[in-house]
Parts: sequence; C-alpha cells; structure tokens
Amino acid sequence: MRVAIVGCGSRHQMYRNALTGPYAHLHDLVALCDTNAVRLALSLEAAGGKGVRGYDAAEYGRMLAEREPDTVIVCTPDFTHADYIVTALEAGCNVICEKPLATTAAQLQRILEAQVRTQKKVTVTFNYRYTPARTQIKEMLSLGAIGEVTAVMFRWSLDRVHGGDYFRRWHRQKDNSGGLLVHKSSHHFDLLNWWLDSHAVDVTATTRRVFYTPEAARSLGLEGHGDRCAACPVIDRCDFALRLDEDENLRRLYKDAEDADGYFRDRCVFDPEIGIEDTYLAHIRYASGAVCNYSLVAYAPWEGFEVTFVGTEGELTHRHVEVHGIFGGTRPAGERESMTTTLHRAGYPAEVVEVASGDGDHGGGDPLILADLFAREKAPDPLGRSADHRAGMFSILTGLAAERSAASGKTTRVTFDGLSE
Ligand SMILES: NC(=O)c1ccc[n+]([C@@H]2O[C@H](COP(=O)([O-])OP(=O)(O)OC[C@H]3O[C@@H](n4cnc5c(N)ncnc54)[C@H](O)[C@@H]3O)[C@@H](O)[C@H]2O)c1
Repeated sequence: MRVAIVGCGSRHQMYRNALTGPYAHLHDLVALCDTNAVRLALSLEAAGGKGVRGYDAAEYGRMLAEREPDTVIVCTPDFTHADYIVTALEAGCNVICEKPLATTAAQLQRILEAQVRTQKKVTVTFNYRYTPARTQIKEMLSLGAIGEVTAVMFRWSLDRVHGGDYFRRWHRQKDNSGGLLVHKSSHHFDLLNWWLDSHAVDVTATTRRVFYTPEAARSLGLEGHGDRCAACPVIDRCDFALRLDEDENLRRLYKDAEDADGYFRDRCVFDPEIGIEDTYLAHIRYASGAVCNYSLVAYAPWEGFEVTFVGTEGELTHRHVEVHGIFGGTRPAGERESMTTTLHRAGYPAEVVEVASGDGDHGGGDPLILADLFAREKAPDPLGRSADHRAGMFSILTGLAAERSAASGKTTRVTFDGLSE
C-alpha cells in the first residue's frame, strides 16, 4: 500500500513506526500531514526520509493528488475525522480511521453517503476487540457458553491518571470529542455490539461532572491553581500535575510545538471551562433483546473494567485491572495488570477460565490490529474483529443517543438515520 497519515500526534506514532519499521518492506509511507509544523517536522524526522513528504493540513487535497496514496490513516482530533475521510474516499483512497469515526450524526451520514458513492473501504481501528482476553469472550459467547445473553452489567473505570487526561486538552469540549460517551465509550459500545452481535435500539442515560470541577480543586487545597501545569503556583501539591518537560516524548511532541498553534497539552483538570462530564450511567436495550447497565467513571481509584453477561444457561464475568500510559499525575505504587474470567454454568460450580493474553499496549490489542492492517498474510478473522464504517457508526449512535437522553431526561431511540425520542 501507499499510505498517508493525517494527524501527527501521539496516536499516529504507532502506525508510523509500524510502517517505517516491521512493515516497511510491505508498504510505503508516502506522506504525513498536520496543522502543526513542529509536530509534522518531528514525525518526518522519525520516519527517516525514505520518500515521505510532509504537508500542512491546508494542502491535504494537494497531498492526495501528488502522493497518490491508496490508503489514508486518520489520527486527528475526533471532530475533524469526517472531512478527512470523505475527501480521501472521493479521491479514491481507502481509509483507516481512529475511533471515534465521527462526533455527530450529520458527520456519520456524510461518511456513509461517501462510502456508498465511492465503494471504497473504511476501517475503524477498534483495537479493544483485538485484546486476546476480549476476543476470547466473543468466542465463548458465540459458542453459546451461557446460552442466549439476556442482560449485561458493564462498568468501566478510568483512574485519576488516565481519566484526568481527558480533562487537559481538546477532549474536554464536546465540540471536539463528542464528550466521553462518544470519544471513550465508542470503544465500549463497540465491544458490546460485537460481543452481543447486535446494536442498541434505545438508551436512557444520566451524566454528571462532579470531580473535575473548581469546587473539587478547592476541597483538595488547590485554590489559586494556574490555567496549566507549566505555569501553576500549586503544582507541587497537585496529584494531577503533568510535567511535559520531564518526558522527552511529551516535551518534543507538545511543549516544543506550542508556539505553532497554542495547543497546550497540560491544561488544568479543574478548569471551569471544561464542557464534558466525568460520571456516566446508561441503560441500553439491544435489538437482540438483551439489556445492559453501563457506567463510565473518570476519577476511579483503579483503572480497568468489569463485565458480567447473564445468559439463559449461566453467567460469564471478566475483570481487567489495567495499568498503562504516561499521563502525568500520581498513580498508586504497586498496581499490577491482572485479568480474570469466571464461567458459571447453571447447575455446575463456577470455573476460573485461563485468560488469553498477549504483549503490547491496550492489553495486547495494538500489535494484533497492526498485523491485521499491515501483514502480508492476514490471520483468519472468524470472529469478525476487523470493523468497518457501519460498526464505527453504531458505536457512536449509542453514545449520541445517551448524550441526548441525558439532556432530555427521556429514553432515546437509536435509528439508522440519526436519533429520535
Ligand atoms: N484507539 C485508541 O486506543 C486511541 C488512543 C489514543 C488516541 N486515539 C484517537 O486518535 C486520534 C488522535 O488522538 P491523539 O491522542 O493522537 O491526539 P493528539 O492531540 O496527540 O494529536 C492530534 C494531532 O492532530 C493534529 N491536528 C489537529 N487538528 C488538525 C486538523 N484539523 N488537521 C490535521 N491535523 C490536525 C494536531 O496538531 C496533532 O498533531 C483521536 O481520534 C483519538 O480518539 C485512539
């Protein structure tokens, strides 16, 4: 493939490094594109020349014409995905897009229409499906380990290190990210759709922001905090501080690039201007008949998730305590990754299942999705881990319906054409 990447921030590094490293002999990275000249130059330097050209975002069309990529990888902030996808499809390219596919129903509609018009392929990189333990759950449910799934209890916890990070930068405004029910939960709603082989039909949700607030800052003794960590008078007593200078990658990627566009990576998590919530509860009904209680909390004392599937023949519970990433803040010492799965079939004692595991980020999911995208020999995909634009769309429609329900206080139907009460 001839590949171009748009958006040269944190996430694109995984794709760039794969295309200039282990998969370099199979594909050509031909272009990189970003609004920020410093991050673009940094990525070009890391890509090491070899025929890779850099383009400002305003030159995206010219890039497509000159470099003739057959695949564009979209790694920009969420609200920009739709424009880049539609333009790439119209230019005859396939698209690999980071989640979430888009942030509004109107954007989804445009992507859907462009895909139908061009018949090019859109892949949404739901790396969480590839985490071996989550693939194993799909396999067990598909094989009928607990009969027909009737109910699901699914709670996702972001700890104060990872969770806090969504309140520091562009994610913290719904116009940019759709809010965490779209930006973050699209992973979770996609897992549910995939695990249940279904999609949501209606959602009733409640959301609140209770932790990342000016009041919380005061109660933590952080009154007088600055707008950002780099200029904060109380940084030494803040457990949420992100010191960009202390990590070379963060410094080069963000601190050194600030003057080019004023994108501050370390804004205060207690800022009054934050527009997203940190506490989400949703009750979701699926086309299959299953119902789900879902929660997402962004200030939990632990990171990970717990899901219990109730079926006509038993229950399946999986718990993953996760530790990953450099996001600043203070994480309790001694936290360890752990995964447990318990299968309890009716009439039998509960059994502990040996959990499938793998190395790499996102519970071992990232290396597997890269292999699926870029390896010469594709591994068989009997469980349908590879996700297209429709999967991307359904994952977001759940979140958008939840957002609308939280605002109206009513149950919101999820439809193909958008949302209705
Ligand atoms: N699948 C996962 O687990 C996962 C993890 C992290 C991020 N992501 C996704 O990857 C995407 C990028 O996130 P990130 O953490 O790398 O963000 P980031 O802020 O680190 O990087 C975004 C990059 O896009 C550039 N940019 C901003 N506006 C642009 C525009 N209009 N046109 C071109 N470039 C523009 C910025 O300068 C920056 O270099 C997001 O959609 C995010 O949801 C997915």
